[in-house]
Amino acid sequence: MIVGVPKEIKEQENRVAMTPAGVRTLVGGGNTVLIQKSAGVGSGITDQMYKDAGAKIVPTLEAVYKKSEMVMKVKEPLPSEYKLFRKGLVLFTYLHLAANEKLTRELMKTGVTAVAYETIQTANGLLPLLMPMSEVAGRMSVQLGAHFLEARHGGRGILLSGMAGVPPADVTIIGGGVVGYSAAKVAVGLGAQVGILDNNIQRLRELDEIMHGRVITIMSTPESIERMARFSDLVIGSVLVAGARAPKLLTEDMVKKMKPGSVIVDVAIDQGGCIETSSLTTHTNPTFIKHGVVHYCVGNMPGAVPRTATLALTNSTLPYAQMLADKGFDKAIAQDLPLAKGVNVHDGKVTHPGVAQAFGMKSEPICAWD
Ligand SMILES: NC(=O)c1ccc[n+]([C@@H]2O[C@H](COP(=O)([O-])OP(=O)(O)OC[C@H]3O[C@@H](n4cnc5c(N)ncnc54)[C@H](O)[C@@H]3O)[C@@H](O)[C@H]2O)c1
Repeated sequence: MIVGVPKEIKEQENRVAMTPAGVRTLVGGGNTVLIQKSAGVGSGITDQMYKDAGAKIVPTLEAVYKKSEMVMKVKEPLPSEYKLFRKGLVLFTYLHLAANEKLTRELMKTGVTAVAYETIQTANGLLPLLMPMSEVAGRMSVQLGAHFLEARHGGRGILLSGMAGVPPADVTIIGGGVVGYSAAKVAVGLGAQVGILDNNIQRLRELDEIMHGRVITIMSTPESIERMARFSDLVIGSVLVAGARAPKLLTEDMVKKMKPGSVIVDVAIDQGGCIETSSLTTHTNPTFIKHGVVHYCVGNMPGAVPRTATLALTNSTLPYAQMLADKGFDKAIAQDLPLAKGVNVHDGKVTHPGVAQAFGMKSEPICAWD
């Protein structure tokens, strides 16, 4: 198969969909890999590194789409790319179609086969291509929290780890899933005092077990959230209710009672945020202060660490890209149910039940959903 990798064009998006190691794997399987000129520069990968791995460098975005049977990206295509869609092209990337009717209809109209990273699902219900970015964002949330706790950023002016004779910061994590656990590991590693709230008792048991009692686990209720937030230096919002907007668990009244100069990092902002006073910010202007509390609410946190995020993402996407490239679309999805669940649009029809439901359309599944 001919696999093409364009340069990302979304603002401040420096990740790229394939590493030289990925190129080597696909080329080793008898495939051709086309990389758009300079596609990897933001992630520290030069054209020469790709060439050394066996890729061909092509000059433009148009050339990548035109010559490829499968296009691999990081973010969803932007309207300027829609004119490059054509029947039979396989598009493999993050799509989040349930929130993008225009793109869904374009993919249907043009007959593109759209395979979304975020809906690939393993038998135990995990979303393996979403996890790496949650792990990155969770780990980042603590280092960002530590940074914004510095006085010059409006923070309380405390060192997260504390030191001999001076207590460490109190960190509260609301939502103990992939982001929450990743944040807890880094916060504990830095020496902070960490509490995790979740409303799933089984998850709290797991966290208690895997963190060897180094975090306090607390059942999430409005009362416990208020109590924890009140004395915390850093609150991390990492709640997810699958398929829904995040519930506003930390209310404005609770934020008003937090210590002046404390910091909120609302990682769940991409689902609307789980803190009532949050609103979306960007890497250019990442914070604002409300009720004396510093708020960080960037929706694409991993974009700030493209070298790490590109490697983390491609470690997870490559096995699926390999299946598609080596076997071809039909055979690959017939043999692998998790990959088949990634197919959102095929042959002009919406094949993913969640996407169809979002737009009141009829879904025409190409695999078993239970
Ligand atoms: N901003 C970014 O750049 C970025 C990057 C990656 C992920 N995210 C977002 O972070 C959020 C968390 O992702 P994740 O992968 O950790 O999800 P996850 O499903 O692994 O974890 C979510 C956790 O929230 C818990 N939860 C649900 N309702 C709760 C409640 N009322 N109180 C306390 N806990 C509750 C669940 O039990 C679960 O443990 C998602 O919205 C995701 O999209 C944002």
